[in-house]
Amino acid sequence: MNTQEFVKKYGISRKNTDSVKWDGMAKSFDGRNDLIPMWVADADFRCPDAVVQAVEQFAALGVYGYTLAPQTYKQAFIEWEKTRHHFECKEEWIRFVPGVVSGLYIVIKALTNPGDAVIIQTPVYYPFSDSVKNTHRKLITSELVDNHGRYEMNLGDFEQKIIENDVKLYILCSPHNPVARVWTEQELIKVFDICQKHGVIIVADEIHQDLIFGDNQQTTAPIVASGKYIDQIVMLTAASKTFNIAGLQNSFLVTASIELGEKLDAELKYDALVWGNPFGYRAAEAAYRHGHEWLDAFLKVIAENYQSLKKILSQNDLIHVYPLEGTYLCWVDLRDCVPMDDIHNVVQDIAGIAVDYGEWFGDCGKGFIRINLATVPERVQDVGNRLLNAVKQR
Ligand SMILES: Cc1ncc(COP(=O)(O)O)c(C=O)c1O
Repeated sequence: MNTQEFVKKYGISRKNTDSVKWDGMAKSFDGRNDLIPMWVADADFRCPDAVVQAVEQFAALGVYGYTLAPQTYKQAFIEWEKTRHHFECKEEWIRFVPGVVSGLYIVIKALTNPGDAVIIQTPVYYPFSDSVKNTHRKLITSELVDNHGRYEMNLGDFEQKIIENDVKLYILCSPHNPVARVWTEQELIKVFDICQKHGVIIVADEIHQDLIFGDNQQTTAPIVASGKYIDQIVMLTAASKTFNIAGLQNSFLVTASIELGEKLDAELKYDALVWGNPFGYRAAEAAYRHGHEWLDAFLKVIAENYQSLKKILSQNDLIHVYPLEGTYLCWVDLRDCVPMDDIHNVVQDIAGIAVDYGEWFGDCGKGFIRINLATVPERVQDVGNRLLNAVKQR
């Protein structure tokens, strides 16, 4: 399927569908519900037909009592991981969590104690810091560094903070939202070595693991260095970003460690998170089994959207667009062309766009914006032109 066919077949208007992105923006954008929504990370495309059929088939049963996960559901995930990520995941390593964020809370509560230090690398998806603070752990941040327009981890700072604060847990974002980096295996080996040396458990949020562009290669955390660190890793992932089914609340918590697994099971039981929603199980299974072609076309649309946004915005050399290695979230630096305090005015009031503001991801994100590219190409071009003109006009 080429990109035009994909957009024509799957592109959909989500206004007035109770979409958080389209119908729920007023709270985050000064009461405005009329902006072009390029914020929340989901897509303006219908999911693969096989997913719709699986949901319809289950709906037609008309019986929605407590339901086991289908036998074949974990198998579909295992096959997906093997085919797409060369990860040979065993069935007993997999646990159900509704969302990756709820999974993060489970992991923090199961594997650390109140007051323990947890490290994250900012700017990063803001529920990371919320999950640490809301569970009464100590939040430690190590800022990523911009090396000539590409973010890298600051390993010296990371290790020093681990030592100084006796850090117990590290939350890795891989690929990294919002800076769109796909970490190389070499980078992961270095950061995991530090964690191993200091006994720090690694939680890898890989919700964006299937959204990879160009020559970049996702190395899923459990297989880094041929599985050298697997016993100190918990991976969280889902079909939700990949196939636009986040509303169905179905995610995977994976660990090969028996010791960590037992602690996680106890916490899941305590939080009464044992059964998933049967619609979610069926949707995820159908997506993993039959979604390859859909995903390949979706990725091409995102790649083209990125190129067209970059082309438009690069007409102004003071707007810096970061490389999109992974995720469908484009990180843009406006610091050279808009004073920090004027960014909301330029983006929201002049351009009429709703984006994620950089400061939401940590103080070091101030002056940046994150634009969601998972929408139809005309909208991306419109947004690019609006932003370019708004910067010129101010
Ligand atoms: C890195 C990352 N983790 C988790 C989530 C949300 O996961 P969930 O909806 O499964 O809680 C997002 C959504 O944008 C994300 O970017």
